[in-house]
Amino acid sequence: MRVGVLTGGGDCPGLNAVIRAVVRRGIQEFGLEFVGFRDGWRGPLEADTVPLDVHAVRGILPRGGTILGSSRTNPFKENGPGRNGVERIKDNLAGLGVDALIVIGGEDTLGVASRLHEEGIPVVGVPKTIDNDLGATDYTFGFDTAVNIAMEAIDRLHTTAESHHRALIVEVMGRNAGWIALHAGLAGGANVILIPERPFDIEKVCSWVEHRFQTRYAPIVVVAEGAHPVHEELTATSGQFDSFGHVRLGGVGQMLADEIEKCTGKEARCTVLGHIQRGGTPTAYDRVLATRFGLHAVAAVHDEAFGTMVALRGTEIIRVPIAEATRELKLVPAERYAEAEVFFG
Ligand code: F6P
Repeated sequence: MRVGVLTGGGDCPGLNAVIRAVVRRGIQEFGLEFVGFRDGWRGPLEADTVPLDVHAVRGILPRGGTILGSSRTNPFKENGPGRNGVERIKDNLAGLGVDALIVIGGEDTLGVASRLHEEGIPVVGVPKTIDNDLGATDYTFGFDTAVNIAMEAIDRLHTTAESHHRALIVEVMGRNAGWIALHAGLAGGANVILIPERPFDIEKVCSWVEHRFQTRYAPIVVVAEGAHPVHEELTATSGQFDSFGHVRLGGVGQMLADEIEKCTGKEARCTVLGHIQRGGTPTAYDRVLATRFGLHAVAAVHDEAFGTMVALRGTEIIRVPIAEATRELKLVPAERYAEAEVFFG
């Protein structure tokens, strides 16, 4: 069997660990052959491939990013003149002698995989995203690394905030779900954590910040990029959309800094962590999770369990229908946020 592998959507630490595990087990144990597709769904759409053998995956376990490249290409938007995206992918897979695909992605990339499976393309999914917002799996790899990067940034900001008696606002990623903000904020001892799931009241935020100043301890406010005030939709956007219809976010941290400065009279500054959270080497936790996902994904291909995604349930890796993972996003439940609220103010 010849198996294609692709990584799509926003990259995250651990993608290379999955690719390595897929190739190593696939060749050694199942006698499979592999081909890498470049840049997510663009690869199969344009038959753009790279060789993928044991030699190609040597030394990549600790490397961030993806040796295959990534993109947010949506084959269902490729309906120009000639054959549509799905037909082009089918033709190219047949032309390259590819019998099955291992698709490593988040909500959008796996959403495409699920639809292509319905169109008769044999796929197995692997869940990734720093946002940890995919359904059907307890954790996605990449999340632990992003949380640790954000936590370290908060630790560092604490000491400089103290020296200058400033409020420091840390904007982290998290479009729809506030998992990174919640975990990094809890681990870093944030004064306030603001997430998309819970619209915030700016006056309340200011009173928490004020209270922290009164205790002679400088406040750190952690805000997810998708968080927004009560009664307001997202205001901090660039107005630019990707091919899956998501607007590019960013700016809520600065907005908050301005408001906090106005209402408290204290200096407030914003640090946007941005893509630093997605880059560099994965933590041990993410390397192990990604490796286990890869080992189980290639076993699913060997078993012809197509249309499934590997998922973490407790400590076990299980198989679930891809559609189950993409049906609805896994958001922060109210009771988890309540745990963090104990430390606000
Ligand atoms: O989905 C992961 C993620 O990092 C989100 O948290 C963020 O909103 C988005 O990707 C940013 O994507 P890009 O790097 O394409 O701007």
